[in-house]
Amino acid sequence: MSTQEQYHDSAEKHVSGESVYINDIDGGSRMLHGYVLYSKLAHAKINSIDVSKAKAFEGVHAVLTANDIPGQNQMGPVVHDEVCLANNEVTFVGQAIALIAAENEDIARAAANQIKIDFEELPAILTLDEAIEKGEMIGTPRIIERGNIKEGLANSRHRLKGTLTTGAQEHWYLETQSCLCVPGEHKEMNVFSSTQHPSETQAIVAEVLGVPRNEVVVEIRRMGGAFGGKETQANHVAAWSALLAYHTKKPVKIHLFRDDDQIMTGKRHPFKSTYEIGFNDDGRINAYQIELNANAGSATDLSMAILERAVFHADNAYFIPNISVVGKAWKTNLASNTAFRGFGGPQGMAVIENAVDRVAQFLKKDPAEIRYINFYGLTDKNTTHYEQLVENNRLFTIYDQLIDSSEYFQRRKAITDFNAKSKYVKRGLALTPVKFGISFTTSFLNQAGALVNIYQDGTVLVNHGGTEMGQGLHTKMLQVAASELGVTPQHIKVNATNTSKVPNTSATAASSGSDLNGMAVKNAIDKLRTRLTPLAAKLLSQKFNASVSESSIAFENDKVFDRNSPSNSIKFTELISAAYLNQISLSATGFYKTPDIHFDKTKGRGKPFHYFAFGMAVSEVEVDTLTGHYQNIRTDILHDAGKSINENIDLGQVEGAFIQGVGWCTTEVIKWNDKGHMLNHSPDTYKIPSVQDIPKDFRVELLKDAPNPNTIKQSKAVGEPPFMLAFSVWLAIKDALAAVADHNIDFDYELPASNEVILKVARELCKGNE
Ligand code: MTE
Ligand code: MOS
Repeated sequence: MSTQEQYHDSAEKHVSGESVYINDIDGGSRMLHGYVLYSKLAHAKINSIDVSKAKAFEGVHAVLTANDIPGQNQMGPVVHDEVCLANNEVTFVGQAIALIAAENEDIARAAANQIKIDFEELPAILTLDEAIEKGEMIGTPRIIERGNIKEGLANSRHRLKGTLTTGAQEHWYLETQSCLCVPGEHKEMNVFSSTQHPSETQAIVAEVLGVPRNEVVVEIRRMGGAFGGKETQANHVAAWSALLAYHTKKPVKIHLFRDDDQIMTGKRHPFKSTYEIGFNDDGRINAYQIELNANAGSATDLSMAILERAVFHADNAYFIPNISVVGKAWKTNLASNTAFRGFGGPQGMAVIENAVDRVAQFLKKDPAEIRYINFYGLTDKNTTHYEQLVENNRLFTIYDQLIDSSEYFQRRKAITDFNAKSKYVKRGLALTPVKFGISFTTSFLNQAGALVNIYQDGTVLVNHGGTEMGQGLHTKMLQVAASELGVTPQHIKVNATNTSKVPNTSATAASSGSDLNGMAVKNAIDKLRTRLTPLAAKLLSQKFNASVSESSIAFENDKVFDRNSPSNSIKFTELISAAYLNQISLSATGFYKTPDIHFDKTKGRGKPFHYFAFGMAVSEVEVDTLTGHYQNIRTDILHDAGKSINENIDLGQVEGAFIQGVGWCTTEVIKWNDKGHMLNHSPDTYKIPSVQDIPKDFRVELLKDAPNPNTIKQSKAVGEPPFMLAFSVWLAIKDALAAVADHNIDFDYELPASNEVILKVARELCKGNE
């Protein structure tokens, strides 16, 4: 099997059911089940909590409130504004108030019902509009500007103004938030947490327990999906189960019930953005002014970083000489919103993509042509609003190939003909590009570590700081180790991620898991090879009675040989036993930090990204304007994954991200009632994509011959960028709707384009037609 065909390292285990998730770990007969009692009120003062009845309940081992926290009552990951357990106030529906450890979940729930809390309801802010009106801002505005926006707008031949709202999105990881904590001796705590960020989970558990970090070990084999939802918010369940384990001195597991998970955890930030776009007769954008407003929920969490990424991506793929981007985050009485695939990028890009569509309709031109003429240039017009050079720009290559392979213009004509004959069923087509910056925008986070052990039998154990959530990171790391060490994959194992093996890691996020950890693994293996090479030269020289120089030693296919006479080889295992006898260390750590990235927040200038990922999609949909139903007829995607380490995994990432994006853009609606209760907290009312949402004809390809300089094996990050290709579906629906009024009426659009929204727009346009 070539390494390109390397299966996902969990594939067989998933199929056979052997894969171990937190809930599959045997906590032993002493294990207790943790349960979290949360607020049903969006904002209230807590006058008193009486847990006496719950404590007396048979089978209950502990009932804890804020007063029982030995360390800090705090789990805010960046800003300390998020209590672990509500103290004298609750600020959203779903906020944890008390914890119960019991012999089973039923007992814990029954005991929770016995807890008496005296609340005094307070006014709650539940919408972005209200938060803006009341000035409830979180952090300070983020601003990036270039050129002169006032003059730019004034000098533009045409101007369009608008507002766009984009909705929340539930992560819907199949494995809900889970953690098992096993207390060790004295202050030790072993934490098995479904977390994207083991080092932060370790830090929060240590802080809550009031113990140093060297007493806490966090381990994660794999998550059953995360999508950003376990970047910070896995810490919560970890902190709660650690508290219960600490007090009971028994293993305690918390595995959130689906509805509770949906109610208690944050979502993708809903945004409301206002903009004005100035352009000329040819469709060139001359000026763009945008204010992005994020609904942060009740605490900061990652909101500021998410807002920053939205601000960085407000341009998407377009060069705009005069641009002003302002981002603001607002506080509401909802669960704190958090990371979700794309991390603010989708919210920033949606606005310009919709605006460009309006420009096209205004000028009666094809939107693809307007997009094309505004793309970042290859030799000029090639710096972003924060003045990063757009290097290795692949927009034109992708555009040319995709326009061709999707037969865009032929189909455009066919659709126009179809729509002329079809009164109620309309078809629409859209091409949308993605340019997505790769790196954590907080520069110091771009670091990773690894620990590679070779054992005496020649087998290899790779530890790295990244976590597996289904995206195939461990498989890619296995492939990197295999090729760098010249050992076949069956002799290599990638270990569960463990903070005692690789410390001080960053979250596996920002799509940079393989970029960062791949380089760290390579660095560790480089060290091992440097140690082993002199011995290899000596052994080969002795065995074949030749003079073999160290510089010609090669490691390949479980063999070590002289490149000048490859038949003179010894087995890798032979070299390793000799190395052990020669007292050579067979274990090495690796480290990597992304070079040359920096960003000055006050000036709004710098090079925040190591490089950009590019992709494009063309989607065709059919909309029934009488029911609001739409069907995706065909999607063509061409995505740039550099020189892919594993094409099947990358194709899976592109398909999965796209479909997840389609969910956000079309069917996934979250509403809250006037008490702050979420109305869509289970799969019967919250519609993630189903088989029907997959394009009937789905053609996904990776861009060929596209090695990426200065990355592991010339690959490119792929986890998030294709999410935003779903705009092609969202705007194809808009295109179909516009056909109702022969593309003559400009109308307000929103995201998601749910059946309800489609129907509403169709009705309005019909009226306009009468
Ligand atoms: N793919 C699967 N199957 N499950 C996930 O939870 N998360 C996405 C993406 N792909 C996710 C996924 C998100 S939000 C990110 S940031 C990246 O994977 C993280 O992994 P990477 O950096 O290794 O690409
Ligand atoms: Mo991904 S949203 O960066 O975890």
